[in-house]
Amino acid sequence: MNSVPPVRPPRTPAEWAAYYHLRYAVLRRPWQQPPGSERVPADDEPGTIHALLLADETAETPVALAVGMLQPTSAQQGQIRFMAVAPEAAGTGLGQRIMAYLEAQARAAGLTEIVLHSREAAVGFYERLGYTVVEPSHLLFGEIQHFLMQKQLS
Ligand SMILES: CC(C)(COP(=O)(O)OP(=O)(O)OC[C@H]1O[C@@H](n2cnc3c(N)ncnc32)[C@H](O)[C@@H]1OP(=O)(O)O)[C@@H](O)C(=O)NCCC(=O)NCCS
Repeated sequence: MNSVPPVRPPRTPAEWAAYYHLRYAVLRRPWQQPPGSERVPADDEPGTIHALLLADETAETPVALAVGMLQPTSAQQGQIRFMAVAPEAAGTGLGQRIMAYLEAQARAAGLTEIVLHSREAAVGFYERLGYTVVEPSHLLFGEIQHFLMQKQLS
């Protein structure tokens, strides 16, 4: 087993399944949302970049430990969405690695600004990575307050 699996896009159908499974398990299932609610049309748009970190690159059945996606929203700006780390792997630096990958991809695509809507509980995570709160945004599922955050890419 690789000690440090890379961050990269999903490649095979099984990896895509693992990718969406983690997104659903962390961000939708705890709020009784139906399977499929974890997917959005932007997932399939050509400029969208998906980031996946597997537990074991050599495993026959892939298991995702961390995921995230970057959606270009203009020629200069991208939005990071659906950041999720498996609960058993939280706090071990994987979220930070997904963010670093997506920011590097954004720079490579010529983007100069990242925005995101952070859950209230995750604001501190993004602040550590240089994001600042712009304003409160939406309330998801009637209970999860989100905050619009922003970072200029240097
Ligand atoms: C929020 C989340 C993506 C963070 O990923 P993670 O892998 O647990 O975070 P990391 O281990 O990479 O942490 C990086 C740094 O942020 C800090 N941090 C992590 N989560 C934090 C939080 N919720 N609040 C404040 N700081 C946090 C860590 O302590 C670490 O700081 P350090 O470098 O000073 O030690 C992850 O915990 C998660 O998926 N949570 C549930 C779903 C969610 O809220 N997703 C975001 C939706 S907007």
